[in-house]
Amino acid sequence: MRLDDLHLWYLGDPAAPRYVGALKLVSAGKGVSLHYCKEWLDHGFALSEDLPLVDIEHAPPGRLAADAPRAVGAVDDARPDRWGEKVIRCVDRPARLSLMEYLYFAGDDRFGALGVSTSPNGYSPHANSPLPRLEDAQALSEVAAKIEAAEPITAREAKIIAGGGSPLGGAKPKALITIDGEQWVIKFFNNEPIDAPLIEHATMTLASRANITVAETRIIPLIGANAIAIRRFDREQGGRIHAISAGTAIRAATARGQEPELGYPELARILRRVGVTQDDTHRRDTRELFRRMVFNILIDNTDDHEKNHSLLVVRPFQNGRLKLAPAYDVLPTNSGQGHQEFVCGSHGRDSTLDNAMSQCEAFGLVPEEAAAEVAIVIDAVSTWKAHFEQAGVTRRDIESLAERIDGHELAAQRAGFDPSRFRAAPARKIRPGPFRRG
Ligand SMILES: Nc1ncnc2c1ncn2[C@@H]1O[C@H](COP(=O)(O)OP(=O)(O)OP(=O)(O)O)[C@@H](O)[C@H]1O
Ligand SMILES: [Mg+2]
Repeated sequence: MRLDDLHLWYLGDPAAPRYVGALKLVSAGKGVSLHYCKEWLDHGFALSEDLPLVDIEHAPPGRLAADAPRAVGAVDDARPDRWGEKVIRCVDRPARLSLMEYLYFAGDDRFGALGVSTSPNGYSPHANSPLPRLEDAQALSEVAAKIEAAEPITAREAKIIAGGGSPLGGAKPKALITIDGEQWVIKFFNNEPIDAPLIEHATMTLASRANITVAETRIIPLIGANAIAIRRFDREQGGRIHAISAGTAIRAATARGQEPELGYPELARILRRVGVTQDDTHRRDTRELFRRMVFNILIDNTDDHEKNHSLLVVRPFQNGRLKLAPAYDVLPTNSGQGHQEFVCGSHGRDSTLDNAMSQCEAFGLVPEEAAAEVAIVIDAVSTWKAHFEQAGVTRRDIESLAERIDGHELAAQRAGFDPSRFRAAPARKIRPGPFRRG
């Protein structure tokens, strides 16, 4: 069966799916377009800023030939990424491998609140097996390892991973599982030279010490290796939260024909413009985003790309305002490459505090305030060794990480940062000038 026509649904209330519109393969198979239905045009909301409620076929930008395949706007976040695509190729084995197959076979548990169905008249997603549970983690990890190694899997193994293997994005082996009735992402050890799952847990909990809101994590010890479980932030009691990646939000805010500036300052500007204003949430979010940038620099998390930050779309029917989702996928990359994936400031992607400080106004911070945030993050990062030890990270792994985190480039920046340099000069008293009367 060729999936030339698919249909997008909204599952904010999964008990009452709402039809959004038709999806089509365009640009010689390199893009997917969306045409809202009348009901959604009348009563729905714009899924992202580049998908306004108008009666046209919204297509991704035309320069796609050179780019990776992409679905239009927020629809792109509803598809799997490299890992999910591998699982679909192994488990579902569709005859054609286009964005449409990947969108469809991701099933019902995908990121955010969108769903994909073969019908415009009813939400009938690809039926995967039920999500595995915590008890299945060992078996799941073994199947995931086989898929990663491109080894063939049996029908029984396919069934184990079919439930939660393909919905989410990212490149590393992972699956969705339920723990006490809630959905968590489980990420497996992938033969990294260090215990990456445990280090991710240690880094995420260290980030919370730097006043960063992180997704809840826990370690799942398996035979021979740890796995990490991360509680889903796009699910809530009885509902799903529409969510988009930072890349989608930035592209949507960029004029057609212009290159998007994929970076922290641009994301901060978007939050200041369309963030949640109630209780000053958007101000707290941009301040937090600034801390996340500084934390990623200092902890050597250089893999902070456009899909490693997400935004929750809050109360979409009123105004679709955005709120920073909790941090996830935060761990040292151990590459020492000296630049981030996301632009930090006037020196582009350079992993330096000077660069982070250079556009602090975009985050709504005057230099003195920004420097105080940097100091908070430095204090937390300076405790990393003791924190990682306490989390159970081995001495060998700590020594390996220390080569970067405590290496000259980063340690010197922590030690050399002087917040007083950024203190505002005291306002000068205005003396009466010679021509001043009175
Ligand atoms: N706790 C969560 N709740 C909801 N969605 C999540 C959560 N954690 C991750 N995701 C989604 O799954 C995707 C993949 O997760 P993650 O970034 O942790 O995996 P990864 O394979 O390590 O990624 P990468 O390809 O960046 O190495 C994220 O980009 C995000 O869309
Ligand atoms: Mg990631």
